[in-house]
Amino acid sequence: AYMMSIRLLARAPFMIILSWIMTLTISKPASILFLIAIPFLGGTLLFIAKAAHPHFIKVFDEYDVLNNSVQENVNASRVVKAFVREDYEIEKFHGISRYVYELFTKAEKIVAWNAPVMQFTMYTVVLILVAIGGRSIVGGTMEVGELTSVIVYALQIIGSLMMVTFVFVMIMIAEASTDRIVGVLDEVPEMQDQADAVKNVADGSIDFDHVDFSYGGEGGNLSLKDINLHIKSGQTVGIIGGTGSAKSTLVQMIPRLYDVTGGSVKVGGVDVREYNLEALRDQVSMVLQKNVLFSGSIYENIRWGDEHASDEEVQRVCRLAQADGFINEFPDGYNTMIVQGGNNVSGGQKQRLCIARALLKKPKILILDDSTSAVDTRTDALIRKAFREEIPDTTKLIIAQRVSSIEDADQIIVLDDGKIAGVGTSEELLKTNEIYREVYESQVKGGGEDE
Ligand SMILES: Nc1ncnc2c1ncn2[C@@H]1O[C@H](COP(=O)(O)OP(=O)(O)OP(=O)(O)O)[C@@H](O)[C@H]1O
Ligand SMILES: [Mg+2]
Repeated sequence: AYMMSIRLLARAPFMIILSWIMTLTISKPASILFLIAIPFLGGTLLFIAKAAHPHFIKVFDEYDVLNNSVQENVNASRVVKAFVREDYEIEKFHGISRYVYELFTKAEKIVAWNAPVMQFTMYTVVLILVAIGGRSIVGGTMEVGELTSVIVYALQIIGSLMMVTFVFVMIMIAEASTDRIVGVLDEVPEMQDQADAVKNVADGSIDFDHVDFSYGGEGGNLSLKDINLHIKSGQTVGIIGGTGSAKSTLVQMIPRLYDVTGGSVKVGGVDVREYNLEALRDQVSMVLQKNVLFSGSIYENIRWGDEHASDEEVQRVCRLAQADGFINEFPDGYNTMIVQGGNNVSGGQKQRLCIARALLKKPKILILDDSTSAVDTRTDALIRKAFREEIPDTTKLIIAQRVSSIEDADQIIVLDDGKIAGVGTSEELLKTNEIYREVYESQVKGGGEDE
């Protein structure tokens, strides 16, 4: 729209004004006729544009739905196939695209009025000109050449107006898009660094002090309720609890992925809200429950943790994460290309690569959110052993569904429905905590029978 308008919008007004002045020098009645016709046309076109605008906004909203549907289907093509939902998804796509088509047709139907209104005005003006001019020529007050000139000027004006309308429609469609782009650009991040933000994380200690949290903000449903926790630097802490008990929510407070609704979270003795965000997140490495790899080689993927790390350094963390073995079995080793979404490595391999990536940051706090769920128990134990021996000073938070993954932790936190149900070592919890005992017995007994 901008490209169109810089040329056309600059030229058209000149053409209209100059043509009108030229007409005035030839024939006063004709220039008055133009003076009536131009505002009439302009007004009508404006009216048409205004009427179509809301329809275009709606069209773009529906485009979102259409794009989302396509994107989802491409990303989750395996799920769609596995559930034999192709027909359903195709029908869904048809439904939305039909709707977009209908909306677009509605908008275009309004815009299509432009041409008939133009032509009608244009030929009416020409007819009137010829009628008046013809009489004047017969009466001897006007020459044939003059009438011809006035008609040519009339066509010039109409042509320019047409250009303006064309650009107008373009701008109108573009405006619907511009609003959306500007909306994103103008969004102010909720989390802003303070002017005197702390840049240095002293150690890996973590303190939760009466923390409440709601995804819905103040007054919403509380996902975390009155959490009090004290973790010393270098400790290994296990977190266990049923699905939806807010384990992930709890650890996301530490790198300040969300701000608490009430209370405070301290890292290294300082409230996380007082840190420079980058400095804090540099020291808190998190392996997310839904982790992702990027397309690129294994080297490139691991170096996300630290772009300047040497090859040896990358290999070291991969050994720590027990990823070294399977990487070396790939024909290209560390240069193996990971495809988009990491679909050419197994779930357990992906998890280990993500752990290696997190380790490369040399964080003071390492959080593993169910990150060894797809790794066999032996490898899981080896990873924990490596952590104990190689990064003893790093605080390690391990969320797990398997008791065996956290049994040997210094502290185990049992979460239940957003509240802490118990804290202690495995031994202590077995004596005092009903939930922990149940989970423990169901898993350990189940394992025993297998053997
Ligand atoms: N982004 C979100 N927006 C709104 N509610 C959320 C969001 N993420 C989680 N919740 C809600 O918060 C609660 C705790 O979720 P959370 O993901 O912390 O559970 P979890 O213990 O990690 O579960 P799982 O073991 O399945 O990973 C759930 O009731 C969930 O519905
Ligand atoms: Mg979770």
